Amino acid sequence: MNSGEGKLNYGYYLLTYIHLIIISIIVIGILISLLFWKVIANIIMGFGIYTFLNYWIVILYLIKQREPYNLSSEIMKSVIKSGKVVIRPARPQDAPVGARLMFYAGVNYMRAFFGSTERKAIKVLKRMFSLPGHMTSYTYAFVAENEGDIVALFSGLDRRSWRASNRASWMYGPIWWIAAPPWQIPKMISAYYAFDKVVPPVLDEEYYIVHLAVLPEKRGQGIGKQIMNFAESLAKSKGLKRMLLDVEIENEAACRFYKRLGFIEAKFVTDKNYCKRFGIQGSIRMVKPITRQ
Ligand SMILES: CC(C)(COP(=O)(O)OP(=O)(O)OC[C@H]1O[C@@H](n2cnc3c(N)ncnc32)[C@H](O)[C@@H]1OP(=O)(O)O)[C@@H](O)C(=O)NCCC(=O)NCCS
Repeated sequence: MNSGEGKLNYGYYLLTYIHLIIISIIVIGILISLLFWKVIANIIMGFGIYTFLNYWIVILYLIKQREPYNLSSEIMKSVIKSGKVVIRPARPQDAPVGARLMFYAGVNYMRAFFGSTERKAIKVLKRMFSLPGHMTSYTYAFVAENEGDIVALFSGLDRRSWRASNRASWMYGPIWWIAAPPWQIPKMISAYYAFDKVVPPVLDEEYYIVHLAVLPEKRGQGIGKQIMNFAESLAKSKGLKRMLLDVEIENEAACRFYKRLGFIEAKFVTDKNYCKRFGIQGSIRMVKPITRQ
């Protein structure tokens, strides 16, 4: 997604393409071995596997160098009790409910990224959720528990974690190959492109709510508001000045909810390709200043 770093973004796309080329070399090697000469096929496959390993060594090195900024471990050492629910950093094992909630948080986006139906998208999301550091992972997510059951989730990013999660999303490109069916990959890449091009980046002093959802049967009980209050106090404790989020124009219920909490509409994104890709009328960037009392 958009790191707001202009050219640097293409580096991330490049990683995915390099991986695509390497996999193609291996596949060509396999085809040749099946159809033609074994020696040439082995050389091609050997080259493919050698490049593949080199690719991974670089990736692992980069990930180690630029460890994703983990908001939860920095600020949250313990659970926060807030009204009806207990809010705590998400864990990989929260994937079954976590993935479902992430799907509800942006149904059209998740369908475009991860699968055409709810079941398919949640299946991929579940696998992605347990991997650290990227945008749909547990790393930047918090869950709200009610009597021990997860009832809601939100993920939030400041500029630094936004950039780290962007990097991770592209570096983990090869993992998409494992997490998602192969035919979903081109759709995922073009969805990332479309999103990247039009959605404004997160700037210094801003806290971006990436995902927010309450389980359908638990809505209207004040849980969403408690979570957003918690997110705001988290952002405030980091000295940030604004909360931001993107909401689909057609998600009128969520727009009303955010307005009720003091958010205002800052920008409408109605780019044709973006709307077509996600099957939406557009999205609204909503903003709320963080007060300092
Ligand atoms: C949007 C959502 C998170 C709200 O959570 P919730 O727990 O149902 O909301 P709350 O009960 O905390 O409501 C808080 C306030 O917003 C108001 N509100 C909530 N939904 C509303 C709606 N559809 N229309 C008008 N006001 C609404 C409530 O009346 C309440 O006002 P009050 O403080 O005066 O009592 C939840 O409905 C949800 O998960 N929706 C699906 C996922 C989604 O759309 N996420 C947002 C993606 S950007």
